[in-house]
Amino acid sequence: MNADELKRQAAEAAIELLPDGGIIGVGTGSTVNHFIDAFAKVKGRFDGAVSSSEASTERMQTLGIQVLDLNATGGLEVYVDGADEANRQLHLIKGGGGALTREKIVAAASKQFICIADEGKLVDVLGRFPLPVEVIPMARSYVGRELVALGGSPVWRENFVTDNDNLILDVHGLEIMEPMKLETAINQIAGVVTVGIFAHRPADVLILGTAEGPRVMKP
Ligand code: A5P
Repeated sequence: MNADELKRQAAEAAIELLPDGGIIGVGTGSTVNHFIDAFAKVKGRFDGAVSSSEASTERMQTLGIQVLDLNATGGLEVYVDGADEANRQLHLIKGGGGALTREKIVAAASKQFICIADEGKLVDVLGRFPLPVEVIPMARSYVGRELVALGGSPVWRENFVTDNDNLILDVHGLEIMEPMKLETAINQIAGVVTVGIFAHRPADVLILGTAEGPRVMKP
């Protein structure tokens, strides 16, 4: 099975874990696109979705899923999203698609975070995937220097602007032994909007697509 088939398998397995109704938080990316396609088939059971990106909003609206404003819905029962890397504590690196800020907001506002991914995303130590950091444009070089001081090699994701009109620095060369500590440290840098480490609010459940079928992991 190729990675895309494994992503679809994980996404379809997540449908089985959804509550009977209510409003579902929906992430961003190629794995979530499979989830949105499957969710569209059962959308009648639900009151709608809160989206984490313009791209997911557009896909959901095209499929007739009602997209609601988080300010109007209050807290959510469940958030479903992908990841770029996950460790066994279900700490994640996210933001490969640049949607990390809204993803972190919807994850924070949700009681349960179900992460869906192909098995290649499971790692022992986070950091091989370059860590995305969303920054205010005028702070790009300053934040870059601070990230170098923390041991990373930041690379500006050129020709890319986030849904919030900010920039992304992808930080290479990190071996993230203490994800919570590094998340806190990067969050403290002036000009950082969001760091793509999800450790203070990790996933609660990780569904991995594998050659043997979906594998459900908890920390
Ligand atoms: C989007 O910004 C990311 O956080 C995605 O959740 C992550 O990159 C996973 O993407 P794929 O499902 O496309 O691998």
